[in-house]
Formats: sequence, C-alpha cells, structure tokens
Amino acid sequence: MTDLPARSRALELDAGSPLRERRGLFSLPEGMVYLDGNSLGALPRTVPERISRVVTEEWGRDLIASWNTADWIGLPRQVGDRVADLLGLPEGSVWVSDSTSVSLFKTMVAACRLQTGRDVIVVESGTFPTDGYMAASVARMLDMELRWADSGHVEEAFDERVALACLTHVDFRTGAMFDAAAVTAAAHAAGSLMLWDLCHTAGAVPVDLVAADADFAVGCTYKYLNAGPGSPAFMYVAPRHQDAIDQPLSGWMGHARPFDMELAYEPVKGVGRLASGTPPVLALSALDAALDVFDGVDPADLRAMSLSLTDFFIELVDVRLPGVFEVVTPREHERRGSQVSLRHEQAYGIVQALIARRVVGDFRTPDVARFGFAPLYVTHADVYDAVDHLVAVMEGREYDRTEYATRNRVT
Ligand SMILES: Cc1ncc(COP(=O)(O)O)c(C=O)c1O
Repeated sequence: MTDLPARSRALELDAGSPLRERRGLFSLPEGMVYLDGNSLGALPRTVPERISRVVTEEWGRDLIASWNTADWIGLPRQVGDRVADLLGLPEGSVWVSDSTSVSLFKTMVAACRLQTGRDVIVVESGTFPTDGYMAASVARMLDMELRWADSGHVEEAFDERVALACLTHVDFRTGAMFDAAAVTAAAHAAGSLMLWDLCHTAGAVPVDLVAADADFAVGCTYKYLNAGPGSPAFMYVAPRHQDAIDQPLSGWMGHARPFDMELAYEPVKGVGRLASGTPPVLALSALDAALDVFDGVDPADLRAMSLSLTDFFIELVDVRLPGVFEVVTPREHERRGSQVSLRHEQAYGIVQALIARRVVGDFRTPDVARFGFAPLYVTHADVYDAVDHLVAVMEGREYDRTEYATRNRVT
C-alpha cells in the first residue's frame, strides 16, 4: 500500500517554490481554499487601488482630458503589449477590447476572409460552446460549412477545403491540452489557418505560439490573468496577417484616423484594426494592474508549480480515495493544463458540499467536478486540505443532502 503523504510534505514543497512570495500579492478570503481560478481568478491587491485612482482622479477630476493625459485611448494596445510579453508574443501583436466570444467572432471572420476558395471551419467536439456557436454563425454568414473534429484526432478533419481550424488549447471540461505546434503544423500542411483559444492557458500554461507559427489566438483575462469578472479578452494576430485582415465589426476606433470622422472606412495598419468602439477603460485598467503580479515571473516556474500542484492533487486522490473518482485529466504532463477534473455521478452535490466547507471548485455538466490550480496563489497546503475535505465529504456522503438535489447555481 502507498504511504499517505504527510501535510509536512506540502509545507516543504511550498517553502521550496520560487513563487512562494506571490500569494501575498492577492487578496484571498481567510480560511478558504480557492480552486476556481480557472473560472474567476482571485483579486490582486494592486487592482482596487488602481481602479479607485482611475475613477476618482482620471475620471472624477480630469474628466475627458484623461483620454490623452492618462492615455486611455492607448490602453488596448498598451495592455495588449503586456499580455504579449507574458505570452512570449511580439510587441504590437495583441489587442484587448471585447469579450472572448466577440473576439472569436472577429478573428474567425478575419481569418476566413483571408482564405478565398476554402469553405470549411473546423472546431472540435469538446470545444467550449461559444466557440462552436460563433463558428456556426460565421459559417452561415460567409456561406461556409462547420465541420466537427473528434478531439482525439483533430488532424483527420483537415483537408483542402478547410479555411480555419479553431481549437481550445486546454479543454475547459477535462483539462486536456493539445500539442499546439503539432496541430498548427498539421493545419498549415492542409493550407488551413490556425486560431487557438487560450482561455484556460494564459497565465498558467506557457505555450510558444511563435514557434508553433500560429495565425491567431484569443483568450480571456478573468481566469488565470485575474483581471476580474467580465474583463476584456485579448486577440493575437501573427505579424504576417496584421495588415491584410478585414474584420467584420469595422467600427470607428479601428479607423486609420478616427477623429477625422470620414465616412469611408480605412482600417489602421496593424493589430489596432481589430478595434470597434470606445475601449472599456475601467476594465482595461484593472487588467493592467492585475498583470503586475506576473512581473518578473519565469514562465518555467509557473509551469513547474502548476504541474507540482496538479500532480500532488492527483496523487492524494489516488491514495486516499482509490477507485472513487475517474481522473479525467491526462496524467502525462505534456497533455495537462492547470486543472484536474474528477468524474463522479454525484459531482454536483460533491462540489456543493465542498463549497459549504469553503473549498471552492466547480461543476461542469453532466458529471465533472473541476479544480483549478492557479500557480501564483494556490499552495500545496491548499491541495492537502482540499483533499482532506473531499475525503470527509465522501465518507459522510454529504453530497446526498437535499439542498443539493436541485442545480441552482450559475457556476
Ligand atoms: C475556452 C473558453 N472559450 C470561451 C469562453 C467564453 O468567454 P466569454 O464569456 O469571455 O465570451 C470561455 C468562458 O469560460 C472559455 O472557457
């Protein structure tokens, strides 16, 4: 029988982590184990102060002058450059303005319009629904066809008709990760462009999109980038496409000279043509401040911590709850994102019982309990304590309580 790891081992692992000081940069509720940063990231301490300053000084005192004096107008590009830096992307290749869904729509149409003569968009069967909904709408709009690829064999869907493949790099439900370089190469070999959805990647799992030669990417900033509920998503466009793309929501902010108020649309050069309307200044300021927690972080340390936390969680579940759950998330490091998903027919009640014990994960229909491990603020001690509570929930059958019989939560 395998020995039960001691809590002291968790503390040793935390003490040895180069990221151990980073948790203090977040405002986390006392006594809570927060394993839902893959849905909504924790609050960085830098954000309230920045928001307060933007509201009271830049808006309240300086009013409209702040478009220039505080460079509000430059925020989508400036914050985009910080995201680019974090993700290892070139300066001037990332724009931040809209939700992920809208960003997907814009980049999908822009990509398909580059591919005259091709009429298929590929998405995979396990995709986050919005990616599929948007691809279906784009296909209808541009008189194309939507093709569903099997998640395990996406390459088989690529052929000479495919204009664009849009895949989620880390699967929201299972935490499984694609090999971005291999899949992009396969898409390119068939003449398709490649768009990656990095919602469950950015801020937790390094991916080299430049080496992979990817064409486009989008990703949200409210998960592992900790910018708050509804914070705007980022869009990446490879430099070779930037001056060629024709995006569908061609608003005045993407014009070469927005304040000349010309009637004819002429897109600005570069990634800024992805802009549509007035940028969300408060939300962009929150994101700008939230990114400070990553200053000086080596992406390799981020990955090492994420793998160590997820390994530890899987090990504890294996040892303490053998045969109780199916670990849906791949055990191989190269196929794992930064979450662990456990399958159980009582997954909903289990997650609610854990939340009642102040261990916050979430449920994904029909039978998955999801636990996200944000490497900047989750510790091995959190993991140890979470599994302690999970054992108690299972032994006490707490998931059977009547108040968990109805699914009534948003997340
Ligand atoms: C993989 C993935 N793509 C897209 C979205 C949708 O993002 P938004 O609500 O910002 O449009 C989500 C949201 O969780 C997601 O997980």
